[in-house]
Amino acid sequence: MTKFKLLLPLSLLLTNPNLRAQDGQQLYGLYCAACHASDGKGATGGAFPPLAGSEWVHGDPKRSVAIILKGLQGPIEVGGKAYNLAMPPQGDALGDDQIVAILNFVHKSWGNKGEAVKRDLVRIARTEFASRTTLWTAPELLKLFPLEKQPTALANLTSSVYKGQWIYMPHFEKIQSENVEEEHSGILNTALAALKEDFGIVWQGDFIAPANGEYDFMLDADDGAKLILNGKNVAEVKGIGPLGDKNRSSQGKAALKAGANPVRIEYFQGKGDQGISLGWKPAGAKQWQWLSSNPPKSAPGSPSLILTPMDGKTAIYRNFIEGSSPRGISFGFPVGVNLVYSADNLAPELLWAGTFIDAGRHWTDRGQGFQPPLAEEVVKLTNQRFLPPTARFKGYSLDAKGNPTFHIELDRQLLSDGFAPGTTGTLVRTIKLSGGTSVLEIPLGDNPLVTPKKSISLAPGKSVTVIYKLF
Ligand code: HEC
Repeated sequence: MTKFKLLLPLSLLLTNPNLRAQDGQQLYGLYCAACHASDGKGATGGAFPPLAGSEWVHGDPKRSVAIILKGLQGPIEVGGKAYNLAMPPQGDALGDDQIVAILNFVHKSWGNKGEAVKRDLVRIARTEFASRTTLWTAPELLKLFPLEKQPTALANLTSSVYKGQWIYMPHFEKIQSENVEEEHSGILNTALAALKEDFGIVWQGDFIAPANGEYDFMLDADDGAKLILNGKNVAEVKGIGPLGDKNRSSQGKAALKAGANPVRIEYFQGKGDQGISLGWKPAGAKQWQWLSSNPPKSAPGSPSLILTPMDGKTAIYRNFIEGSSPRGISFGFPVGVNLVYSADNLAPELLWAGTFIDAGRHWTDRGQGFQPPLAEEVVKLTNQRFLPPTARFKGYSLDAKGNPTFHIELDRQLLSDGFAPGTTGTLVRTIKLSGGTSVLEIPLGDNPLVTPKKSISLAPGKSVTVIYKLF
């Protein structure tokens, strides 16, 4: 029993029992900081347990009162780390008001979201535990005041929803959010926005690391997402594209302190399917743990489809299309012309006239084969890749009418390939090349009825317009 007495900090011994100050922070500095440190992370480099982010200061506030009144000893786990020390009782040194002030400081500092403590609670606890002569043990406390189970490693999570059309991650801090909500589930789910297209979400909260050490993170999104931990970028999924594309999904590492690490996840959705997936594990561990409603590489959630162009706008469909490569993206233009662009081949792939597409088969599930275009005759433009191997798909942007321009990056060059409705039955393609010196040869298609030229050569700084006539 003398063991913990040796741990008594000087400040305790010098304390004036008549101290009337009710300033929680000041009292904390006098009565707790010698062991738990003024930043709440545990004194002497974490040899003492932290109060910052501790599960012990969350949930029933009577637990904290009990610990201060009667002390605590023996094995305990705090933030995933084991301790086996002793904390002296302080019920005799501290008045009820002082305990209230200290705990209201501790419960609301360093990111803690513990409950407010009232004077009555301390008074009742003092009588209730008056006859107790020994220090508490952790198992005793857990029986009386079970810890609140944290559903995931994301605590104190809030979500802010933003509206806007983006193809890159916007500066959310410069935009006004629509609404902010608490997400007690600790789960990321893009459906919370209740929007199909053109929105963003920023989640903020704490990632509770079970111990000091290095952690792996895996992020994927449809469309863009960014993971920021302790103010540092850890993983990023750039631009527009689907879930499950290994060229887009992103992995990162972060060295974290046990307990709460501030986390921010930014997300934006353009058109079509939406979703985010985020997983974590201690470095070296095999099993990923998921912080999102989407497991990774899954089929997207409920696809949002427009089946016919409406209000003079171009419709978009982002599922598998029969006859196209897996990353085909379809557009129905309001002039009776439909297009599939292949993000694998970096080229327009199929053209057909008339009705756009019946997406019913893929309404809930993307896995059942390819969707045929609703047409008697489908014109194949390209079925292989023609650009050099260094060429990379950089996503697409949509103008106000929903017409796409695809962006392709070559060594030092940028190719933009835009499609817009012409007169009824025609599609206008505008191709621009910028940067570098290489002239590009761009195939246009093999069907002389649809396009008179088979290919066209394009010099840097130039743009060319091609018209495809279907009827
Ligand atoms: C003399 C050092 C010392 C002082 C002073 C001290 N504690 Fe502790 N505290 C400890 C130790 C050691 C433990 C862990 C005991 C164990 O291993 O079972 C602990 C555990 C705790 C816990 C539960 C575990 C955790 O980290 O959340 C809380 C809550 C707590 N202390 C709050 C306080 C508050 C509030 C004060 C000031 C009124 C205070 N302590 C003062 C040493 C101290």
